[in-house]
Amino acid sequence: MKNNKVTVSLSDDSHEYDIAIGDNLLENSGEWARNCLSKQTKKIALISNAKVFGLYGETVKNSLESANFEVVVFLMNDGERYKSLRTLEKVLKFFSENQIKRTDAVVALGGGVVGDLAGFAAAVFQRGTAFLQIPTTLLAMIDSSVGGKTGVNTEFGKNLVGAFHQPHGVLIDIAVLQTLPRRELTAGFCEAVKQGAISNEKLFTQTAEFLKKFPPNKFKKYFFDDDFISEIEKLITAQVAFKAEIVQQDEREDAARRDGKSRKILNFGHTLAHALEKVTDYKRFKHGEAVGYGILFAAELSKTLEMFDNNKLDLLNDVLRRLGKLPDASDINLKTVSETFAFDKKNIGKSLQWILLEDIGKPKIVDDREISPKIIDETLKKVLQP
Ligand code: NAD
Ligand code: GLY
Repeated sequence: MKNNKVTVSLSDDSHEYDIAIGDNLLENSGEWARNCLSKQTKKIALISNAKVFGLYGETVKNSLESANFEVVVFLMNDGERYKSLRTLEKVLKFFSENQIKRTDAVVALGGGVVGDLAGFAAAVFQRGTAFLQIPTTLLAMIDSSVGGKTGVNTEFGKNLVGAFHQPHGVLIDIAVLQTLPRRELTAGFCEAVKQGAISNEKLFTQTAEFLKKFPPNKFKKYFFDDDFISEIEKLITAQVAFKAEIVQQDEREDAARRDGKSRKILNFGHTLAHALEKVTDYKRFKHGEAVGYGILFAAELSKTLEMFDNNKLDLLNDVLRRLGKLPDASDINLKTVSETFAFDKKNIGKSLQWILLEDIGKPKIVDDREISPKIIDETLKKVLQP
C-alpha cells in the first residue's frame, strides 16, 4: 500500500498509532486494519451511514472480510442531530446483540459525526474497545479523526458528553473526496485555514497556495490530474502532522495551560462556531462553515484589540473568500449568540478563554475578562451583519 504516514506518539499512555494518507487506499483497508489491530481481533463493528456506506461500504467490508474479519454493520442516521445519546444507546445495544468482545474492534467509516459517535461508543463499550477511523470528509481527515476526542451533543450544547479514546489507526483515502458535496468541501477547507492560521507561515501559505491553484468550485475535475493528487496528499499530510504535533504534547487539553501550543488553540474560531450552530438548531451551518465565521470573528477581534496586523487580517479574509460564500448569518439575534457563549464548555470557572491571533502561527489565549463586552458585541455585528 503506497501512502504517506504520520505517527501520533502519546506520552501519557504510551499509545502510538499511524495515520496513512494516500489515493485509493480503501480496497486495502482489510490488510491495513489487520496491521493496526491485535491478532486476537475476530469481529469488526463497522459504523457508517447509508449515504457513505452506499458509496464505499462494500469496498471496505469486502476488504475487511478478505483479511478474515467477521464484519457486522450499523448504519446510523445522517446529520449532526443524530450525534446523540439516543444513537449511542442504539449502537451499544447493537454491540451487545452482536456479541462484540473486548478483543474485537469498531471501525468508523464516515465524516466527523460518524467518527465522534462511533469513537465514543468504542470508548465506553466494555470500558474501551479498539477503534479505527476511516474519515470520508475533508474535515474528518484533517481534524476530527486525529487526536482521540470522541463524544455526542446534548440539548445543552455540542460535544458535552464524551471521552478521549485514541484510535489504533486512521486511514485517509483522498479518492473519497470526489463525491463530497461542495459545501462539505468548503467546511473542510475552513478547518484547514484555521489550522494554517494557528500553526505557522509555512502551512498557512501551503493551504492558501493550494486553494489558489485548485479552487474548491472546480475540485472534482482535478482528480484526473497527477499534480493535484500529489499536492492534496501533501497538504493533508502537513495538516495532519500539525494536528498530531499539538495532540502529542497536550493530549487531554490541560485546563491550566495557556501557551501557544496548548490543545486549546485548536478551538480557534470555535466559540462563535458552536454558538452559531446552537442558535440555528444545528440546521443552517455545516460545522466548518460556522468555523469560517468564527475565524473571521476571532481575527477581527484580535485586530480591534491591536494584537493583530491589518494586513494579516486581509490575508486571512482573502483565503477564506476563496472558499466561496458562507450561509447568511445577518438575521441571527446577536444577543442570543453572546448569551450562548456562557454555555461553551471552554468556560473555565466564570470566564471564557478566547483564542486570538498575534500573527499567523502565533495564537494567544485571552481571558474574556480582559475584553469589554461592548467590543465583543460590536465585532459580532461587524462580522455577522456586515
Ligand atoms: P458529517 O459527518 O456530518 O458529514 C457531512 C456530510 O457529508 C454528511 O451528510 C455525510 O453523510 C456526507 N459524507 C461524508 N463523506 C462523504 C463522501 N466521501 N462523499 C459524499 N458524502 C459524504 O460532517 P463533518 O464535517 O465530517 O463532521 C462534523 C462533526 O465533526 C461535528 O459533529 C463536529 O463537532 C465534529 N468534529 C470533531 C472533532 C474532534 O476532534 N473529534 C473535530 C472537529 C469536528
Ligand atoms: N478539534 C479540536 C481538537 O481536536 O482538540
